[in-house]
Amino acid sequence: MQFPQALETVLETLERMREEGAHRPCASREMLAQLEKAGAVAPNSPQTRPSRTGTGNRSYQATVDIAPTRDTNSSGKLAAINERVCACVKCPNLANSRTQTVFGVGNPDADLMFVGEAPGADEDAQGEPFVGRAGQLLTKIIKAMGFTREEVYIANVLKCRPDTPGISYGNRPPTPTEMQTCRPYLMEQIDIIQPKVIVALGAVAVEGLLGARAPMHQLRGRWNSFNGTPLMVTYHPAYLLRNQSPSEKRKVWEDMMQVLERLEKPISEKQRSYFL
Ligand code: URA
Repeated sequence: MQFPQALETVLETLERMREEGAHRPCASREMLAQLEKAGAVAPNSPQTRPSRTGTGNRSYQATVDIAPTRDTNSSGKLAAINERVCACVKCPNLANSRTQTVFGVGNPDADLMFVGEAPGADEDAQGEPFVGRAGQLLTKIIKAMGFTREEVYIANVLKCRPDTPGISYGNRPPTPTEMQTCRPYLMEQIDIIQPKVIVALGAVAVEGLLGARAPMHQLRGRWNSFNGTPLMVTYHPAYLLRNQSPSEKRKVWEDMMQVLERLEKPISEKQRSYFL
């Protein structure tokens, strides 16, 4: 089947799911890419039949199992997790308040992975992590390191924006229960991507990844191990937006130079004297 037909099939399936009462049915870009690669299956065939997930009566998942030629590459595996994340209602308050889930973005085989806290209002609206003001600063840091956003992988501990009733700007911190509930998705992402280095952005990311709580000034700039993968802790870009002091920005840059060294990337003189 050609891609336009495949797309039509997906749209028809999503429409049918919505008519049947599904709560914001969605198809990820990754799934569409998979369809383009593998060809789609007809509506109502066993492979595209919406399957009920979770305990609520409005929760469905648009599953496209392309068995027997199931995609075993990282992109396909991530797409499969994203389909589960899209349909996740394990935190009913977040499932009800979110515009959409925010899974992750970037190279499925990245050497370098950044992990933040949770989507904010901009990310909730756009479905991509780190696209707001903090995200722009993170993108600047990534570029200064000599990478593009497409070359690294960016994800969060939480895949939903923490609900902030009546407040359209800013986030409350995720609760320990929310972090515990969402953590398995992040674990699966890391397992598939197998980055050479993980950067934990801020205290919530550290807690979500390592289960450790401590003041950031004690945690940052140090190497940890996440199941054997070197993990560098640094300040969250939002902290740098709140605290514009050059010395704090320099600390983050020094942490990133440690990351470059660990990745065995050459550091230029310009990079060594760089200030964010
Ligand atoms: N802050 C985060 O921790 N993650 C985002 O995606 C955006 C802002």
